[in-house]
Amino acid sequence: MKISFAEPKLPANGFVVVLMGGDGELSSSGKTLDKATKGALSRAVDARSFVGKKGETLTLYAPAGREKLNIVLVGVGAAKDLDTLRAQEIGAAIYKSLSSLGADSAAVFAEAPRGAKTKTADLASAMAFGARLRDYSYDKYITYADAKARLVGPTRLQLMVKGSAAARKQFKELDHIADGVDFARDLVSEPSNVKTPKWMAAQCRKLAKLGVKVEVLGEAQMKKLGMNALVAVGQGSVQESQMVIMRWNGGAKDAKTVSLIGKGVTFDTGGISIKPAGGMEDMIWDMGGAGTVIGAMHAIAARKAKANVIGVVGLVENMPDGNAQRPGDIVTSMSGQTIEVINTDAEGRLVLADAMWYTQKRFKPDVMIDFATLTGAIMVALGREYSGLYANDDALADKIIAAGKTVGEKIWHMPLDDAFDKQINTPRADMKNVGPRWGGSITAAQFLQRFTNDVPWAHMDIAGVAWSDKELPLMSKGASGFAVRAMDQFVRDNYES
Ligand code: BES
Ligand code: MN
Ligand code: ZN
Repeated sequence: MKISFAEPKLPANGFVVVLMGGDGELSSSGKTLDKATKGALSRAVDARSFVGKKGETLTLYAPAGREKLNIVLVGVGAAKDLDTLRAQEIGAAIYKSLSSLGADSAAVFAEAPRGAKTKTADLASAMAFGARLRDYSYDKYITYADAKARLVGPTRLQLMVKGSAAARKQFKELDHIADGVDFARDLVSEPSNVKTPKWMAAQCRKLAKLGVKVEVLGEAQMKKLGMNALVAVGQGSVQESQMVIMRWNGGAKDAKTVSLIGKGVTFDTGGISIKPAGGMEDMIWDMGGAGTVIGAMHAIAARKAKANVIGVVGLVENMPDGNAQRPGDIVTSMSGQTIEVINTDAEGRLVLADAMWYTQKRFKPDVMIDFATLTGAIMVALGREYSGLYANDDALADKIIAAGKTVGEKIWHMPLDDAFDKQINTPRADMKNVGPRWGGSITAAQFLQRFTNDVPWAHMDIAGVAWSDKELPLMSKGASGFAVRAMDQFVRDNYES
């Protein structure tokens, strides 16, 4: 979809979108249109008892006086609640109703009803951002023309806003962030017969054109470095495991370094501890953590953030073949700590253990944040709404949660505790890779903490949120690109000069 900004001007024909507050107050462009159509808007509003609830729409075709226009009135709810997050949702709602009306293009008047707290430029850019995020659909493998056509919404939106240059400038940044979100969504959506670790590494290499330094380690190099925990997960697959290191040096030489680390299991069968068949296809999105990291790197580099950010993703396929690791195997991780593999389906933590150790050894980052579709247990705890956040540093957790609030991504702080740490002790090695039945997401986090070396660290379990089975206000069903926006915001709030 092509999005543009212009000074407010009523077009001669086509679809026009105007906003209305929850108290029935029209925006100023709405009032002008009402006059030009001899009160058609107010009459329709009365007839339909349309009050302008959030996301509610009312369409008027060819009103008298402006017969070549179709007017879509969109409710924004209470004007005083119209902040940027709500403006994004309004933009997405406009996109959706234009889609169902079959409108190919529209002029959208980004003029808030009286009493809104958002400034005009913010409102317009946020509406455009919301529409853009809602525009995503994964149709790469749809060949039937009618099915493909059904997925296509409006192809052009023009936002009418006073001081359009400011809105255009703001949107340019947001557009880069949306590109990052969409990149993550594309990666997560890709089927695993295509999405091998090497394919993922090739996708990461695309970031080079944004100025990101991209390095790829193959299995031989990882073995040499002692990453036996990660390599063991991939040894039952014919696909070679990979690790990708992405560096964006937009900040000063002495500025702090943020590192983002992602679980990139391109398919998780469970390995020899094989998963049941029902729903196993969901495991195409077991590289969601890597998707977040790659998408965030894209956003941060594309908007040329003045910050130093490193992304590291561990890419493996967890398959059961004659060479696969077995329950009871003991592996020595890069840290030197030994791990008894009780369950080969608890593979993500084995991948992250080496990726995290490598990251802090090589780069001495000031902060380390990992992302992983790590446990089913986090879904039991927090459902499909919240991601679970663990941290060895409460201030860091607070900053991440605050960034999430700013962008509308829900993150819940979960507890770490020595009592849980003990539960992964085993007599046969330094630790085992699973704890007892209860608190499975916590023991997974405790496992990771043993590889942090006291570097300020946070772990986000995104198993419940990386994919959505229902439509969300800003997203169609499917891959969500969760935490790309939060990480961009986190860097912006705390690490940008
Ligand atoms: N990738 C899964 C976790 C998962 C489950 C992600 C559902 C998304 C949706 C992970 O590798 C896994 O299998 N975890 C096990 C751990 C258990 C064996 C301790 C789980 O959660 O059942
Ligand atoms: Mn697993
Ligand atoms: Zn997994």
